[in-house]
Amino acid sequence: MVTIREVAESAGVSYATVSHVINNTRLVSPETRERVLAAMDALNYRPNALARSLRQGKTNTLGLVLPDSANPFFAEISRSIEDEAFKRGYSVFLCNTERDTQRELFYVDVLSNRQVDGIIFVAAGDQADSLDFLLHRNMPVVMIDRNLSDVEVDAVLTDNQLGGYLATRHLLELGHTRIACIAGPSSITPSAERIIGYRKALEEAGISYEETLVLRGDYHAQSGMDITKSILSLHPRPTAIFALNDLMALGALRAAAEAGCSVPEDLAVVGYDDLEIAHFTNPPLTTIAQPKKAIGVQAINLLVGRMSQKNRPPSRIILPPELIVRRSTQPQASEVEVP
Ligand code: RIB
Repeated sequence: MVTIREVAESAGVSYATVSHVINNTRLVSPETRERVLAAMDALNYRPNALARSLRQGKTNTLGLVLPDSANPFFAEISRSIEDEAFKRGYSVFLCNTERDTQRELFYVDVLSNRQVDGIIFVAAGDQADSLDFLLHRNMPVVMIDRNLSDVEVDAVLTDNQLGGYLATRHLLELGHTRIACIAGPSSITPSAERIIGYRKALEEAGISYEETLVLRGDYHAQSGMDITKSILSLHPRPTAIFALNDLMALGALRAAAEAGCSVPEDLAVVGYDDLEIAHFTNPPLTTIAQPKKAIGVQAINLLVGRMSQKNRPPSRIILPPELIVRRSTQPQASEVEVP
């Protein structure tokens, strides 16, 4: 590996001059700068990033810990985070934990040892061990999407209770009174929060909450499909399904199609996340949009701020979801005005 000293000897300047040219830490005459750059080019010199990091005490790298990188929601979130990090001069290391808390602990240890400057973190479940580990190592961290309430850390979340309420109220306003809910894993806080909103809208409309209409999925499309098949066999059959993420709603659309059940005429379906694919399902999916771009921008803002002010009190940003009505919901036949 070519060293700074070799570049200095070749250019006929001091070690310090070469270092100033590399790090722009002092004005160097154009002639001298040109000589140094020519020597670097001739020797094929590459700055040693590790040495520079040790000198500067930062690596200009961030960690992003996600529970399921194959889920398009997290792919869209990681894109907004990486876009914002790139604008600020940071590279991002993505770590996929597959919702495994041991794997999560492995990755936060790796990221910490590689001296990333900060970490954006989505919990694999409801355990705070990894966060506690990072905070103990004084690592700047921003938690997004899933709230671990007993941890004092910066967080960017969305109002999941409001999202569940908006989805359910939309179906109630269309005349549906028997609304099944395909929930996410019980260890994931947004799912529980959305069910609270679902329940609130039902009770506000004078409809009692029925545990038997809330069935537990795993946030993957297959579970949405399997659970919808059992929902369609219930008597009386629900006329609407609220799936707590779009992937399970896609499974519900597939199950309805296979059962010859027309959406939305025979069965209304609402999802959650507003994935890009939600525009292209047949019919296009009514869903609750999460502000994925804003989540990324706010998370990077908080993280960069935390790096420069490690002792400031933690901030919690709660962003609003939005109901996006498409063609997988419409008034029940009995509600349609007959001319
Ligand atoms: O689709 C994945 C789900 O898990 C999303 O709703 C997101 O909020 C995360 O919690």
